Amino acid sequence: MTTIISVVNQKGGVGKTTTSVNVASALAKLGFRVLIIDFDPQGHSGEHLGVHAENGKSALEVLEKEKSLISCIYASKVRNLWILPANLKLGQFNQNSPVGRQFSLKEAVESDLLDSDKFDFVIIDCQPSLSLLTLNALVTCDCVLLPVQAEFLALDGLSQLIVTLKEIKTKLHPKLSVLGILLTMYDRRNKLSYEVKSELEKNFRKDLFETVIPRSVKLAEAPSFGQSILDYAPDSPGSIAYKELATEIINKLDIKIKKQK
Ligand SMILES: Nc1ncnc2c1ncn2[C@@H]1O[C@H](COP(=O)(O)OP(=O)(O)OP(=O)(O)O)[C@@H](O)[C@H]1O
Ligand SMILES: [Mg+2]
Repeated sequence: MTTIISVVNQKGGVGKTTTSVNVASALAKLGFRVLIIDFDPQGHSGEHLGVHAENGKSALEVLEKEKSLISCIYASKVRNLWILPANLKLGQFNQNSPVGRQFSLKEAVESDLLDSDKFDFVIIDCQPSLSLLTLNALVTCDCVLLPVQAEFLALDGLSQLIVTLKEIKTKLHPKLSVLGILLTMYDRRNKLSYEVKSELEKNFRKDLFETVIPRSVKLAEAPSFGQSILDYAPDSPGSIAYKELATEIINKLDIKIKKQK
C-alpha cells in the first residue's frame, strides 16, 4: 500500500521543503521506499538532494501527459529515496485553464504508481500558494502534513488553510485527512516560539505532532551540500527531530517499521 502525504502551507518559508526532504530521508532509512514529488517551480527539494531535472524529464511533463510518471523519476543518493523533480517551467501549469486539470496528478499517480506498489510513501512538497498545482496535490494525497513556523501571525494562515482543506474535503475529496500540524524552527530561548506553541496546543491539540522541529543552523546548511540532515549532521538536534517525526508518522498511520535491508 502507498501512503501519499502532501506537505502544505500557503505561507512561504515555513519549512515545507526541509520537512519533505528530511522526513522522506528518515522514512527511507527505516527501510521504506519513498518518492518525493517536487511540486514547486522553485525546485528546492531536488536542489536539497542534489538532483536536477533534465530538460523534458520533470513534473511538468507528467502533468501534461507527455511522459509517464515512472519515466521521470530520479534516484537520490539516499538509499530507498527517489524524486520527481521540478523546475521553473512547472509554473506554466498554473497559467493554463484549470478546467479538467485539477486531477492531472491524481490520474498519473493512479495509472503509474498505485497498482505497481513501487513506493510505501509519496511525499508531495507543495509550493507556497493555494494554486492549481497545490489543488492537484490535495486531491491526490491521503493526508496533509502542515508545517507551521514558530513566528508572529503563524496561526492566522493556519486557520485559513484549515477552512480551505475542509472545503476540498467536502467538494472534491471526502477521504482527505490531516496527518498532523508540525511546529518548525522552534527556538526555546525565544518567548514568541513558546507563545505560538501554547496557542497551537490550545487550538489544535488533537492534530499537533508531539515532535517539534528546533531552529538549527545545520538544517539550513544541509541543502547547500545536497544532503538530508540525516547524512549531513546525523547526531544534530534537527536530525534527531526528523527521525522522531518519521516514527510518529508511522505510529499514527499504524504502519510497521520495515526491516532495514
Ligand atoms: N528548523 C530549521 N532551522 C533553521 N533553518 C531552517 C529550519 N527549517 C527550515 N530552515 C530554513 O528556512 C528556509 C525556509 O525553509 P524551507 O525552504 O524548508 O521552507 P518552505 O516552506 O519550503 O519555503 P517555500 O514556501 O519557499 O517553499 C530555508 O533557508 C531553510 O534552510
Ligand atoms: Mg519549499
